[in-house]
Amino acid sequence: MAEPFGDRVSLVVFGASGDLAKKKTFPALFGLFREGQLPSTVQIVGYARSNLSDEEFKDRIRPNLKLRNADKSKIDEFLSLCSYMHGPYDEDSGYVELLDKCVAYEKKHNVAVPERLFYLALPPSAFATVCRFLKKHLNSESGLKTRVIVEKPFGRDLQTFRELQENLSPLFTEDELYRIDHYLGKEMVKNLLVLRFGNEFLGAAWNKNHIKSIQISFKEAFGTQGRGGYFDTIGIIRDVMQNHMLQVFTLLTMERPVSFDPEAVRDEKVKVLKAVEPIDPKDVLLGQYSASEDGKEPGYLDDDTVNKDSKCFTYAAFALHIHNERWEGVPIVLRAGKALDESKVEIRIQFKPVAKGMFKEIQRNELVIRIQPDEAIYMKINSKIPGISTETSLTDLDLTYSKRYSDDFWIPEAYEALIRDCYLGNHSNFVRDDELDISWKLFTPFLEALEAADGPKPELYSYGSKGPKGLREFLASHGYVFSDEGTYQWPLTTPNVKGKI
Ligand SMILES: *[C@@H]1O[C@H](CO)[C@@H](O)[C@H](O)[C@H]1NC(C)=O
Ligand SMILES: *[C@@H]1O[C@H](CO)[C@@H](O)[C@H](O)[C@H]1NC(C)=O
Repeated sequence: MAEPFGDRVSLVVFGASGDLAKKKTFPALFGLFREGQLPSTVQIVGYARSNLSDEEFKDRIRPNLKLRNADKSKIDEFLSLCSYMHGPYDEDSGYVELLDKCVAYEKKHNVAVPERLFYLALPPSAFATVCRFLKKHLNSESGLKTRVIVEKPFGRDLQTFRELQENLSPLFTEDELYRIDHYLGKEMVKNLLVLRFGNEFLGAAWNKNHIKSIQISFKEAFGTQGRGGYFDTIGIIRDVMQNHMLQVFTLLTMERPVSFDPEAVRDEKVKVLKAVEPIDPKDVLLGQYSASEDGKEPGYLDDDTVNKDSKCFTYAAFALHIHNERWEGVPIVLRAGKALDESKVEIRIQFKPVAKGMFKEIQRNELVIRIQPDEAIYMKINSKIPGISTETSLTDLDLTYSKRYSDDFWIPEAYEALIRDCYLGNHSNFVRDDELDISWKLFTPFLEALEAADGPKPELYSYGSKGPKGLREFLASHGYVFSDEGTYQWPLTTPNVKGKI
């Protein structure tokens, strides 16, 4: 693993006047600074094309910097580390100026080996250009320590991903590149390996002998809100499934790495992806939302920024099948949708039924891992109804973070966690090139089949509903059995009355 950066680092954020920088990058840098995780001696430079003064720039980012207590001075302290530069992305001039700025800072503080971190909060069309100029001006000498953070999308299919890779790989090594998939920075996603490999009882049951079916679901309670133009060109599968959900999938299903060493972890992720069967374009559920039933919320096609006859999928569900000893025969369903009844990301692992015999009626165990909102892990178990009853009912073992951990407990936001990891030189939670290659190999033929002119049409579902009508049936056909929702409730709002359920 690379050495951690020290306390004299130039952090340059490209695209500093844009939305991503304003909403994610700078708030994350500030969060780290506030928690003492970013030295107060670094220099932070925002770079973009807009002609802004330092003050105008700071006024733009200030509103999104969040305090955890009333210590307002932290914000000013942080902003005093920041400055702004404007310049083009595709000409030497700005980069020459940027180099001067870095060199001046490094000279002033007698830095022997310059350490520079570049964060590209830019659309992918600009990656290659910016990297070329960065290489030419700011990373031309050997012995420099450089890290470059880039964000998805990493291509839109196998070919475009490989083109991007061909442009970047001669410039920066895999060790220098940090590809963010912000799901890997989420607390519960980071917890998956500990949960699986740090608990004997879960580890022992984590296979086809005990697990019947798995679902990874992503639900958003809002639509494109008039900004569907970009979404219309990619759809839900590229937006969240090929990346975020697939990351959750690999962490959930990979074999035990020899250690937490970043490459050991990433090697295992690649291995399990290689064992996934090509996705069957016939075995899918596809949807597009229409106006809500009361007519108050618009349908997808009412968004002026999308194609009037778009058949873009705003909902998709399909199963992945892994052919290895552990998972043969266990369907793993990924489902994601916009404009649904709630916003929620969770994993549901349903175990096989126990032998009947002594039980007439008994439900399946289910482990639910709630990634957001309100992180929680709960396990549905069967237990005797207390008192004179001899019947069993479903209840749970519940670890809800907000009940277990106080608010004083700082859980870093995904971007905070990831920028910190990059600073420390830890690649564990970043996406490696071969991982992307395999995931695009898996998804490209599938997407091509779905997006072909004679491909399937999405079924309409109304805004605010649970999604396409066939969902229950689709899940049932992949081994998932719905528990008796009449008696079981989580989280429990009022305790059950003794003897009754
Ligand atoms: C940037 O704005 C300043 C102040 O408004 C102005 O003096 C300067 O000429 C502008 N620079 C460019 C390159 O447009
Ligand atoms: C790198 O990050 C992973 C995941 O967060 C962690 O488990 C591991 O201990 C880290 N490695 C080092 C050397 O800090």
